[in-house]
Amino acid sequence: MDKKALFAQAAEVLQENDRGTYTVPTKGLYPFQWNWDSCLTPLGQAQISAPRAWTEIETLFAHQWEDGMMPHIVFHVHDEGYFPGANVWRTQGCGGAGRGKIDTSGITQPAVAGFAVKRLFDRAKDKSLALKHAKSLLPKINRWHEWFYRDRDPAGEGLVAIIHPWEAGRDNSIDWDEPFSKVPTDGIDPYVRRDLKHADASMRPTKEQYDRYLWLVQHFRDLKWDNSKLHDASPFRVVDPGFNAILIRSCFDLADLADAIGEKEIADKNRAWAKKGIAALERLWSDKHGQYLCLDRVTGKLIDSADCGGLLPVFAGVPKPRVRAIAQRIEKISQQVKYIVPTHDPSDPRFDAKRYWRGPIWLIINYMIADGLRTAGETAVADKIVKSSLALIDSGGFAEYYDPRDGTACGGARFTWTAAMVLEFLRYV
Ligand code: DGY
Repeated sequence: MDKKALFAQAAEVLQENDRGTYTVPTKGLYPFQWNWDSCLTPLGQAQISAPRAWTEIETLFAHQWEDGMMPHIVFHVHDEGYFPGANVWRTQGCGGAGRGKIDTSGITQPAVAGFAVKRLFDRAKDKSLALKHAKSLLPKINRWHEWFYRDRDPAGEGLVAIIHPWEAGRDNSIDWDEPFSKVPTDGIDPYVRRDLKHADASMRPTKEQYDRYLWLVQHFRDLKWDNSKLHDASPFRVVDPGFNAILIRSCFDLADLADAIGEKEIADKNRAWAKKGIAALERLWSDKHGQYLCLDRVTGKLIDSADCGGLLPVFAGVPKPRVRAIAQRIEKISQQVKYIVPTHDPSDPRFDAKRYWRGPIWLIINYMIADGLRTAGETAVADKIVKSSLALIDSGGFAEYYDPRDGTACGGARFTWTAAMVLEFLRYV
């Protein structure tokens, strides 16, 4: 592998998808700004231009709701090529949305901003630029964390629930099959999907899933996107170990950043949430699977689904024996497929190697798992993940996701965060 050529190719993808103050995940399929894409992409952008990387996150946070919620999509432009667009979400004025007349969606996404900002800050060559942006973003990220623990953990259990599969980012994960089956589909407005114009139907969620995604959107819209009501009013409330792990890591990182900047109150609050979260994650551990599982907050039961979300707690800093068990689990999975880390256990009959989040590999998940393993001293498995991730670029280019059996490209092509992760992985080879 020619590192310089690969770097240049990845930089080209970032450039192609750059819309000036934000990047689109990829042309066509995703024509707006997505939340966690725009927090992970700056890690790559910073290696080319630090100011541009900070702008990406600042642009996103300019659309924070007054209640603290950070929406998962910012509709900067009008584009008929995506569904559901702003006219379906209709969040203007709700929760303080729509300031500056730019529409947003009404749900959130994994809270990776705290982690990303700390990493940009730590690596910054221009310290005064980094300090300026970190100071401006710190209270905003803190308000988002506050919102999470207030409105998505109303009983104070220490873990937050997602109320829509799109919030986890893992839209059609096997994790949701059971709880999602209880979401009704009656009364949804007629709609036409646009994703199938850009990607193969066999690699995307099903119509039945889309009907349920839409039912939830309409249900929350009828409640005027009032976050003080949505959690309890949602028939879908899942405590996902992956989603919580990302939030916990961001709380720890925001606490460290706040200490560095002299914001003691923010530091203390975030450290307390993170510690409480680490302790609460224990409830999601499964000896049977050797990893964490989702908890259905509606039934109070663990969901029998060994998914990548249950490997992600290594990113949060869970106890060493748990990290060891997850490293062993990944070793075992690597004997079943050519490339790692598949989003789901390949020995599960529900595993689907090409269908979005039901089996394929996503480099951002690989990045967070590898980071957690490396921090905990599991360097060999972390290196294996990095090697596999870069090998996927050889086999499938800068794809949205990859078939773990043969590395073929799936979903959209020329994907922004895939390119950003390549720039990150290149630091370790
Ligand atoms: C989609 O439209 O596929 C997105 O994942 C929802 O955010």
